[in-house]
Amino acid sequence: GQDKFKQVISHAKEYGYIFSSSEIYDGLSAVYDYGQNGVELKNNIKNYWWKSMVQMHEEIVGLDAAILMHPKTWTASGHVNAFNDPLIDNKDSKKRYRADVLVEDYVEKLEQKAQKEITKAKKRFGDKFDEAEFVSTHPRVVKYRQQSQEILQRLGQSLNDDNLADVKALIEELDIACPMSGSRNWTDVKQFNLMFGTKLGASAESASDLYLRPETAQGIFVNFANVQKTGRMKIPFGIAQIGKAFRNEIVARQFIFRQREFEQMEMQYFVKPGDELKWFEHWKEIRTKWHNSLGLGDDNYRFHDHEKLAHYANAATDIEFKFPFGFKELEGIHSRTDFDLKAHENLSGKKLQFYDPEMKESYVPYVIETSIGLDRMFLAVFSSALQDEDLGDGNSRTVLKLPAILAPVKAAVLPLLKRDGLPEIARKIVDELKWDFNIDYDEKDAVGRRYRRQDAAGTPFCITVDHDTKEDGSVTIRHRDSMKQERVKIEELSSIIAKSVDF
Ligand code: GAP
Repeated sequence: GQDKFKQVISHAKEYGYIFSSSEIYDGLSAVYDYGQNGVELKNNIKNYWWKSMVQMHEEIVGLDAAILMHPKTWTASGHVNAFNDPLIDNKDSKKRYRADVLVEDYVEKLEQKAQKEITKAKKRFGDKFDEAEFVSTHPRVVKYRQQSQEILQRLGQSLNDDNLADVKALIEELDIACPMSGSRNWTDVKQFNLMFGTKLGASAESASDLYLRPETAQGIFVNFANVQKTGRMKIPFGIAQIGKAFRNEIVARQFIFRQREFEQMEMQYFVKPGDELKWFEHWKEIRTKWHNSLGLGDDNYRFHDHEKLAHYANAATDIEFKFPFGFKELEGIHSRTDFDLKAHENLSGKKLQFYDPEMKESYVPYVIETSIGLDRMFLAVFSSALQDEDLGDGNSRTVLKLPAILAPVKAAVLPLLKRDGLPEIARKIVDELKWDFNIDYDEKDAVGRRYRRQDAAGTPFCITVDHDTKEDGSVTIRHRDSMKQERVKIEELSSIIAKSVDF
C-alpha cells in the first residue's frame, strides 16, 4: 500500500506527470501542477468523459460557467451555513486536525491489526486457508471489526452542529494522541467553513466578498432556465460541465486525491418529480459502464450507499476505487431533489421551472447528479496502470499500462541508429502521423533503453526504423503491454494506431 503509493508519486514526477505547485519555493501544500505528460492524460480523460456524456447523449448539453459567482449563490446552496469540516486543535502542539479524520485513522489502525492476523493465518494454513470463515470466527478479528463499526456509527451520528461535543468525547474515550507530539490535550471541536474567500473590486471600502466556487454544480443550477429555453430542452435533459473547484481542505496528505484546487466533471440531469429514483438507478448503471469500459479492473470498483444523506439529497451513492491507500470515493451519484432550484428560486425571485406541455403545468424539476473528480480519476488511472513486471529472464521492467485512448503519447518513432538516413525516414513518419496523434521522436541511447523509457511513460507503441526500412518501406511496431514486435508497412501505421485509440 504505502510503498506503492510512494512509487506512484515519484513516478508521476520522474515522467513529467505531476509536480508540486511552485516547487522551487518548496511547494504549496495540497496544490499540484500537471507536467507535459500529465496535461495530456488529463485532457484525454476530460475528452473521454465529455464525449460519452455530451456527444453521445442527444439530451445532454455542455456549459462553462465562471468560477466567480454572485455571493447569494452560496447562501442558497447551503454552502455558507453547512459546508463545514469539524476541526480540533491540540493545545500543546498547537496543531489543527480534522476531528473525524483522527477517529477514522484510529479505525484504520484496527483494520491493519485485523489484516495482520489474516496474513499470519494465511501463511500458517497455506492452501487450506478459508478467509471468509476465518474473519467471521477469529475472536480478535471479529472484535476489531465490531469495534470499528461501532466507532464509525457513533462518529456519523455526532458530526452535526448539535453533537460536536460527542466527537470530542469519542476522541478522549479512545485515548487518541496528537500524531506529532503524543499529547492528549484537545480543544473543543469547531466547525470550519471550507470555502475560499476572495475580494471583488479594488478599494477596501467598496470591495465585496466573494467565494471561489467549491463545486461546479451551482453554475449549472443558476443557468437552468437559460439553457432550457435557448436550447429548447425537454425533460428529462442534462447539463454537463468540467471545471475547477476550490476547497480549503485541512487534511492534505493524499497527493492529488485531496487538493485545495481541483477539477470536477459534473452532470445535472433534470427529471420529473417522482421519477428521480428510476433515473438514479439509470445513472448508476451508465456511470459503472463508463468506468468498466476503460478496463482498469472491475474488481477495483465498489459502491458505497450513503446511510447519512447530505441536506439536499434523498438518495446517494459513491463509486469507490481501490487507490494505493485503499478503497476511497472517486465519484458521487446524488438524487438532489428540487433542493437547489427551489432555493435559487426563493432567493432570486426568478422562476426556475419547466412547463410540461402534456401535463399542461409547470414544475420545478428534480435533479440526479453525477460528480467525478478529474484528479481522482487521473490518480485511479495512473496508479492502477503502474506495474512492476517480472520478465522471467532475471530482468524486470516498470510499465505504465494506461488505456491507449488515454495515453499522452500514442507512439514513439525511433531510428535504430543516428546515421545512414534513418533519422530522416523517422522524422518523415512523425510528420505524417502527427496530424492525427501525439507522437514522440527519440534517437538517444540504445533502442532497448528507449523501449523501457517509453514503457515507463505509458506509450502504447514504439515504431523502429532500421536498414530494411530503406529497402522495403517496412518498420517494426512494438506493443507496450505484450512487448510483441511485428513488421508492418509504413502506410499501415496510421490505421493500426487509430484502431487502438478509437473512442
Ligand atoms: N456537486 C457535488 C459535489 O461536489 P462532492 O462529493 O463534494 O460532491 C464530488 O465532490 C467529487 O469531487 C468527489 O467524488 C471527488 O472525486 C471530487 N473531490 C471533492 N473534493 C476534492 C478534493 N479536495 N480534491 C480532489 N477531488 C475532490
